[in-house]
Amino acid sequence: MERRKSIPRPQGIAVALGLVLLGCGGILASAKQPTIYMPVAIEKDFDEVRKQDLADKPKIMERQQALLERRYDLQDRPSTTITMSGGKPVQEGVRVKLPEGVTWEQLSEMTPAEIKQQDLFPKGFRTLPHAKHNPGGQVFPPNQIEAIQKAESRDLFRFDVEFDLPEHFLPEFPPPIYLSTHPELGDVSQGEVLTIKNYYRIMNGLITPVQMEGLRLLLTPFPQQQFNQTEDRKVKEPSLGVTCLDCHVNGHTNAAFHLNPDTRPQEKRFRIDTVSLRGMFNQQIHGSKRSLRSVEDFTEFEQRTAYFDGDHVTAAKKGVHLPDRTDQVSMMAQMQNMFDFPPAPKLDATGRLISEQASEEELRGERVFFGKGKCSTCHVPPNFLDNQMHDLHLGRFYKAERINDQYNVPNGPIKTFTLRGIKDSPPYLADGRLLTLADTVEFFNLVLQLDLTLQEKEDLLAYLYTL
Ligand code: HEC
Ligand code: HEC
Repeated sequence: MERRKSIPRPQGIAVALGLVLLGCGGILASAKQPTIYMPVAIEKDFDEVRKQDLADKPKIMERQQALLERRYDLQDRPSTTITMSGGKPVQEGVRVKLPEGVTWEQLSEMTPAEIKQQDLFPKGFRTLPHAKHNPGGQVFPPNQIEAIQKAESRDLFRFDVEFDLPEHFLPEFPPPIYLSTHPELGDVSQGEVLTIKNYYRIMNGLITPVQMEGLRLLLTPFPQQQFNQTEDRKVKEPSLGVTCLDCHVNGHTNAAFHLNPDTRPQEKRFRIDTVSLRGMFNQQIHGSKRSLRSVEDFTEFEQRTAYFDGDHVTAAKKGVHLPDRTDQVSMMAQMQNMFDFPPAPKLDATGRLISEQASEEELRGERVFFGKGKCSTCHVPPNFLDNQMHDLHLGRFYKAERINDQYNVPNGPIKTFTLRGIKDSPPYLADGRLLTLADTVEFFNLVLQLDLTLQEKEDLLAYLYTL
């Protein structure tokens, strides 16, 4: 399915003919490329588009639900012992479904080539499509939509597509807020979702005036591709837009998703699951693909990328807000850098388990993490990342195909995410294709060809919960 045609090369004596072909080839090839630009002038009127979108919606949501059910066991099976930092139980068990007739043990004994040849790489380990890949865009979970409607009467509900994952697989809502300036206070959220209405009351006395102004900007709505005032919007009434913390709620994540802005053509873009901003002060590269080198750069450029799909042309029409670098951006960045990881009382200052506080199982899991599991090669303590991008070479395991308008090519190099506080931020991987931490253990066991025993997998999982 490679779309880009190679340009014919002149060969042997047919150099002149070759040159003619080269010219034509170039023109023909570019004529066949799907355009990377979105239309700026919308010919259809809003009501007409909306009517069509509403008519299409049930089929689109059914199609996505069927895909999720083919891939995953979606049942609500909360843990009775392990909770996220604010108390919501994590979901237990491996949820990615196995292909008919094989076990995890059998799969791990096969070579990647055998798995690929027999098409046995579990579907849930492959790229996850956006619920509505065309046009893609930002989709918020119901809890966020409801909270913002209540607090600000601002509508985050899209009429053309809805959030697709069940609530029990999402981070707790609202998530606790830990400030790196106040480790002694624990959660300072007062159990509320930070909004433009309450942030001042909740944070006054805790943060500096500069950080307060940064927070105000992080909570101020600005126009976005689907949420704006034009006929191209996907929200019923003309909208002021979205805020940074509509996704990074309380400096964490609510698992809102959209399409990565960095890839074209459209069918090869991949879904991205909102990352937590907790502990971001330790990261040197930002964005799963973009590898931007500072929080300031990312903050400035979110307006070009997340908000407008990496398409600065439509942005100008819909009202892009480009924050001032020396003033607004630095204040927004500073506030983001105050969001800390949740406490991990079993870890020492170097990120290793304190043996008197950890269970036998957790200690065995730590040995797997640093030994046979090879996890620490990329997830280096004390922050459990290496500020590098790595290609997990998933192309060894499956042949890409078109599913629900997405051509599910392996994503290539992706940034290593931190594993600190990892139980708080399901779903996992850049696109959120893995629903539980148990899924991530099976995923890496297969992808890294580790041959972990059942016991080693259980120990490793117990260890991941301590981070
Ligand atoms: C639709 C939800 C959404 C909104 C709104 C949003 N973000 Fe993000 N943010 C994401 C996603 C998804 C990523 C991961 C991007 C990637 O993988 O390339 C991200 C990544 C980031 C990162 C990099 C974090 C890291 O771990 O590398 C920063 C910084 C950030 N966002 C800041 C902001 C700021 C500032 C705003 C407001 C201007 C904002 N975000 C608005 C979803 C959102
Ligand atoms: C070669 C480097 C490398 C090794 C080794 C590695 N990881 Fe990762 N890890 C990554 C990358 C890169 C990602 C992001 C991949 C993606 O999103 O597609 C990731 C993502 C994860 C995530 C999801 C993080 C999130 O926020 O969604 C978990 C959990 C994880 N790894 C656990 C492990 C465990 C457990 C091991 C050992 C068994 C391991 N990793 C070994 C590079 C590595």
